[in-house]
Amino acid sequence: MSLKNKKVLLGITGSIAAYKAILLVRLLIKSGAEIKIVMTKAAQDFVSPLVLSVLSKNKVYIEWQEDNEWNNHVELGRWADVIIIAPLTCNTLSKMANGACDNLLLAVYLSATCPVVVAPAMDEEMWLHPSTKKNMEQLIAYGNQVIEVKGGELASGIIGQGRLTEPEDIITFLEENIFRDSQLKGMKVLVTAGPTYEAIDPVRFIGNRSSGKMGFAIAEALYLKGADVILVSGTTNERTRFKGIEIIKIENADEMFQACIQHGSADIMVMSAAVADYTPLIIADQKIKKQGESLELNLTKTKDILKYLGAHKKTGQFIAGFALETENEISNAQQKLMDKNADCIILNSMNDNGAGFEKDTNKVSIINQKSIISFEIKSKKEVANDIVTYILDNFIPSRAE
Ligand code: CTP
Repeated sequence: MSLKNKKVLLGITGSIAAYKAILLVRLLIKSGAEIKIVMTKAAQDFVSPLVLSVLSKNKVYIEWQEDNEWNNHVELGRWADVIIIAPLTCNTLSKMANGACDNLLLAVYLSATCPVVVAPAMDEEMWLHPSTKKNMEQLIAYGNQVIEVKGGELASGIIGQGRLTEPEDIITFLEENIFRDSQLKGMKVLVTAGPTYEAIDPVRFIGNRSSGKMGFAIAEALYLKGADVILVSGTTNERTRFKGIEIIKIENADEMFQACIQHGSADIMVMSAAVADYTPLIIADQKIKKQGESLELNLTKTKDILKYLGAHKKTGQFIAGFALETENEISNAQQKLMDKNADCIILNSMNDNGAGFEKDTNKVSIINQKSIISFEIKSKKEVANDIVTYILDNFIPSRAE
């Protein structure tokens, strides 16, 4: 996980939204981050330092000094890999924009050598006030990053702009904007996910069962390694939390093929989509009415996208395919590896408990020309990380040749 072992200094100021800091601390701890908290005195009215101390497994800093001992703001500022001030009040914003230093949090901010992220929270009128706008611009000009306020019901009861963004979104912001790895920086990645739907008539289709979960997890794991990710997805309920992943939504195999060849120059391709192998030769203009005891559909083969990309593989390109098998799993996957000129095939078997459609877990083996690596049953997110680790170990970018 990208926040694992990262040192996060959380600054909390005196806003009603400070209660969300409790959830934020829990999520940060769950992500594996180490946390230190600095609060303003006013923040104590909204959230208990004791609760925050227990959850963060650390002391909470408020005063310049305690028990005749100095809280070293320079040390705190230098300790952090990132400082996140959430919620940021209008008052602290104004002080930060003007270089004021009348509490410990401001002194830590001024001493920081790491990136600083702020998540404001205030009533709409305050948020829209020209002085707030000016202060925000100043803060950005100093190099601080801002997580925009959200719209919704505010503490005053008014519906408007000014809500603190949700703790989950703050975690996503940190993963995407502060702690994204750089191993695949500058690399273009193409991932396919989900099913394709082949229309029979305006209301019916044939297709494979697929939730898209595995493909989305792989796209996100590659993105967190720094790659530019294009995700070509069939119809799924999946959403990505990362703004930087480009999603191309398609419905049928031909649209997926067109989208993939447009990005045929990608450095890494992972074809996890469950592409329909056959599509109706003719799509009826009108809904087919129920008539006889049986119905014959005339189907024609779709283009094999992976096979096409494998046949047109460029120097240095790495192509991974998937195989979902019900029998002779290994030999079928090895055959696909050869037929489709892939660098590896990620095999899942329908015979494994916990693997397959709609599940949150999967069990895979990665097969290449020389070896078979089998993994235990894991969450799809963990499986995606295993696949990405395998790709990083085996992908040799052409620019390094
Ligand atoms: N694939 C593809 N285009 C198709 C069919 C499959 O790109 N028209 C890709 C899948 O995304 C997957 C791999 O090929 O990465 C294997 O898919 P699978 O359905 O298991 O294999 P098929 O070649 O379709 O063979 P079969 O259905 O006979 O097992």
